[in-house]
Amino acid sequence: MASNKTLLMLPGDGIGPEVCDEVRKVVDWMDKRRAVTFDIKEDKVGGAAYDAYGTPLTDDAMDKAQNADAVLFGAVGGPQYDNLGWDARPEAGLLRLRKEMDLFANLRPAVTFDALLEASTLKPEVVQGLDIMIVRELTAGVYFGEPRGMQMWEGKERCIDTQSYTRDEIVRVAEVAFDLARKRNKRVASAEKANVMKTGVFWRQTVAEVHKDGGYDDIELSNVLADNCAMQLVRNPKQFDVIVTDNLFGDLLSDVAAMLTGSLGMLPSASLGAVDEFGRRKALYEPVHGSAPDIAGQGKANPMAMLLSFAMALRYSFDLGDDADLVEQAAQAVLSTGKRTLDIMSAGCEAISTSQMGDAVIAELD
Ligand code: NAI
Ligand code: MG
Repeated sequence: MASNKTLLMLPGDGIGPEVCDEVRKVVDWMDKRRAVTFDIKEDKVGGAAYDAYGTPLTDDAMDKAQNADAVLFGAVGGPQYDNLGWDARPEAGLLRLRKEMDLFANLRPAVTFDALLEASTLKPEVVQGLDIMIVRELTAGVYFGEPRGMQMWEGKERCIDTQSYTRDEIVRVAEVAFDLARKRNKRVASAEKANVMKTGVFWRQTVAEVHKDGGYDDIELSNVLADNCAMQLVRNPKQFDVIVTDNLFGDLLSDVAAMLTGSLGMLPSASLGAVDEFGRRKALYEPVHGSAPDIAGQGKANPMAMLLSFAMALRYSFDLGDDADLVEQAAQAVLSTGKRTLDIMSAGCEAISTSQMGDAVIAELD
């Protein structure tokens, strides 16, 4: 058996714990059947942590996250927490994890499943076989730049947000994109607004420098204006392989790309930090969806987004690409047998519960 890998599970609120239970089944299967064992730790985050400890993330949980090889995060939030102060809100737990682990590269794949082609609002031929990866810069840009807020200017009230990028902030996310492209189809499209934004010009120049000086001449780099990128994603998404972009454009473009594939319950994500002195990269994996309070506790949640997030952990944190492929193929296979949770239900299919979906994936893995 290979060395132990530490996996911190932070199930959180709502359907978070339900979908994490299904991941546990797959982790246990990997332990038994594949050449890897996981040392699983678990803690509370979000409203669950607030209820237990009065804070959405304890220092102890933060320490565990810093020392884990990967963090699997469920979801946080719920109406009962909506009136808490800013720092006590469930989201503050996730923001603290992202900030203190310095998770600057957000990976959002958009992959279509043949069995779910009817879930997309686009024509099947436009999305069939789609497999693209959006790399969004996550810790800088206009969501963080200073100055920000209200001020008086020429006697009038105005409000400012500042788009700001340092060279290093662009370099490190560009490197992640080029490294990913190398393991995929060797193409990177960098999206900005170099036509109207100084930061766009700087982004374009810096990405070109990384491409040239970083030894990435095996990767094809193209530049695309972010608004055109949005159009191209809807018109002909398969022209893309990896798209790298800033925080704001990435927020929008990753949501556009996500919906090419149909359902929130199917979408995984990864957030990666820098490689530390031990060669380890901090990383957090989470489904794109939230805590879905409307269906929590009813066995209706689709666990696929969480399972596919674990597959990303296998690939990017544990270098277990073959095992990641296994999980993804098992997910495809279950869907093609017509088993569906309610969110992806369609005529002639068999409706199953959250845990039945997890069991079906295990049966396919077997
Ligand atoms: P949501 O993603 O929780 O739910 C949106 C809709 O999609 C709901 O109708 C829900 O039932 C459905 N849905 C979501 N995931 C599903 C799944 N796996 N299977 C089946 N159906 C699924 O977003 P919403 O309703 O805007 O937010 C609910 C709570 O979640 C809020 O408190 C919000 O702040 C929080 N949230 C947390 C996030 C996180 O933890 N990263 C991200 C987004 C929202
Ligand atoms: Mg968003």
